[in-house]
Amino acid sequence: MQVKRIGILTGGGDAPGLNAVIRAATKAAILEHGWEVVGIYDSFDGLIHPEKTTPLTLDNVRGLLPRGGTVLGTTNRANPFHYPVEKNGKIEFVDMSERVLENLQNLKIDVLIVIGGDGTLSIARDFIRKGAKIVGIPKTIDNDISATDICFGFNTAVTTATEAIDKLHTTAESHHRVMVLEVMGRYAGWIALEAGIAGGSDVILIPEIPFDYEVVCDKIRQRSSQGIKFSIVVVAEGAHPRGGQMVFQDEKGDGEKRLGGIGEQVAREISQRLDLETRVTVLGHLQRGGSPSTFDRILGTRFGVAAVQLIHHDELGRMVCLRGRTVQSVEIEKAVGEIKRVDPEGEMVLTAEMLGISLGRWH
Ligand code: F6P
Repeated sequence: MQVKRIGILTGGGDAPGLNAVIRAATKAAILEHGWEVVGIYDSFDGLIHPEKTTPLTLDNVRGLLPRGGTVLGTTNRANPFHYPVEKNGKIEFVDMSERVLENLQNLKIDVLIVIGGDGTLSIARDFIRKGAKIVGIPKTIDNDISATDICFGFNTAVTTATEAIDKLHTTAESHHRVMVLEVMGRYAGWIALEAGIAGGSDVILIPEIPFDYEVVCDKIRQRSSQGIKFSIVVVAEGAHPRGGQMVFQDEKGDGEKRLGGIGEQVAREISQRLDLETRVTVLGHLQRGGSPSTFDRILGTRFGVAAVQLIHHDELGRMVCLRGRTVQSVEIEKAVGEIKRVDPEGEMVLTAEMLGISLGRWH
C-alpha cells in the first residue's frame, strides 16, 4: 500500500520511554520513507476532536530521548466505543467510533501507530475489526502484556522502586522499624518482585501468591531473634491476604477500579501482631515519572523503528514485541485480553525464596 502520512497516539497511563518511541518512529518515517507524521493528542480523544493534532517533524522531536511522560499527552478515560459525554448534567456513554474513523480519513492518515497497554490496544483491536489500519506498540510499567517479554517503562519503574527500597533501608535500620513499601503493578507482581530482589527486601507480597499474615510476621520475628531489628516489606498494590480481597481506592468514571491501600493494611497488621514500629510509603506515580533508563530509551527506540517497518512491509494489524533479545511482531488480535502474571513456581520467585525472602506463602 502507498503510505504518505501516518499518525501516532499514546494511550493509557504514561510510561518512561514513550517520548523515545515517538521520536524514533517520527525520525524513521521521515528519514527512511519520506512520510508525513501527525501527532494525536490525548489518546483517541485527539481523533474525536481533530483540532487536537500536530505535525511531528524532525525539529519538534529533537531532545525528546531523556524526557519522561509523553509530549502527546494521554488519558485512560477516552474509549471512543464507550465515550463519556455530559447530557443534562449527567454523564452518558456513547459510541464515537465512527467519528474516529471519519477523522482518520479527514486527516488523511493512512496508518495509525497506537502506543498503549492492554486497554488501549484492545480499543485498537476493535478499530482494526472495523477496518482501521493500525500497528501497535506495547507500553506499561506493569510489564503485564503477555505478548512481549518486556515493555519499555518497566525498567525505569523498577529502578525507581529499588532506589526507594535502598533509601528506606537506611532509615529503617536507624529507627529499628518495619518499613512497608507499596508499589504499582496492577494485577501483576513484576515491579514488587524485581525491585524487592534488587533492593534486598525481606518480604515481597505479590497478587499471584495470596499471603498469610503469620508467615509474614514469622519472617520479621526470625530477624528480630537474630538481633536484626528492622525489616523491609515490599507490597504490590494488587497483593491480598489468603481468603481476602484486593484493596481498591475508588472507581474511575469508566468503571475501571484503582488499586491502592494494601500497604496500610499490611503495616497495621504487622504492628498489631508484633508490637513493632511500622511505617508505610506508597510510591505511587513516582514510578511512572522521570527520565527513562538507558534500557527503556533503547527498547522504545527499537519499538518505534520496528513499528514503522511493519507499516512499510504492509504488516498491518500487528504489534511489535520483544522475544528474548529480538524485536518481533504479533497480531494485535492475539496480543490483548490476557495479562502476563508472575509464575508462583517460576525461577524468579524461587530465586527470591532461596535468598530467604518471604513471599508470605502459606505451606
Ligand atoms: O498501569 C499502570 C498503572 O500505573 C498501574 O500500575 C496503576 O494501578 C495504575 O496505572 C494507576 O492508574 P492512574 O494513573 O489512573 O492512577
